[in-house]
Amino acid sequence: MVSKELETAINKQINAEFWSAYLYLSMSAHFANKGLPGFANWFNVQFREEQDHALKLMNYLISKGNRVELTPIEKVDTEWKSILHAFEDTLEHEKVVTSLINNLVSISRKENDYATENMLQWFVSEQVEEEETAQGMVDSLKLIGDNGFGLYTMDKELAQRSYTPLATAQA
Ligand code: FEO
Repeated sequence: MVSKELETAINKQINAEFWSAYLYLSMSAHFANKGLPGFANWFNVQFREEQDHALKLMNYLISKGNRVELTPIEKVDTEWKSILHAFEDTLEHEKVVTSLINNLVSISRKENDYATENMLQWFVSEQVEEEETAQGMVDSLKLIGDNGFGLYTMDKELAQRSYTPLATAQA
């Protein structure tokens, strides 16, 4: 079993991952409404990946004989002033998630809980990728500016992103 402190902290992280999923689903709906199916698809894949993150943590707690406690998911924004604003929000949000993961690693280290620390290393690497991807999108959008053809082309490209289920998120 993991300690009570870690159990509580991982349950909070499960909520944070579901909140992330909800945020990206809201962004996906927003862009679908705006007639940007590629951006909507990109955020829909992001939504599904975040659910996998939550499920991976849930499966870990269950495998250790701990309790999973699902708590209410806070409201998310439903409108963004521009595509760039949505990706800037994404980047800022992923930085917050990174700090939450780092905090979980600190607790597991303090407790000499090597199994949990090892499980969390996947999230540490994932967060490097998440921030890098969001930063790349912000950079591209800044370059494109309000060039309609650039945004049209980017929307077409993002329509190609596909979802790959995470094996450790499967029951
Ligand atoms: Fe689950 Fe985007 O971090």
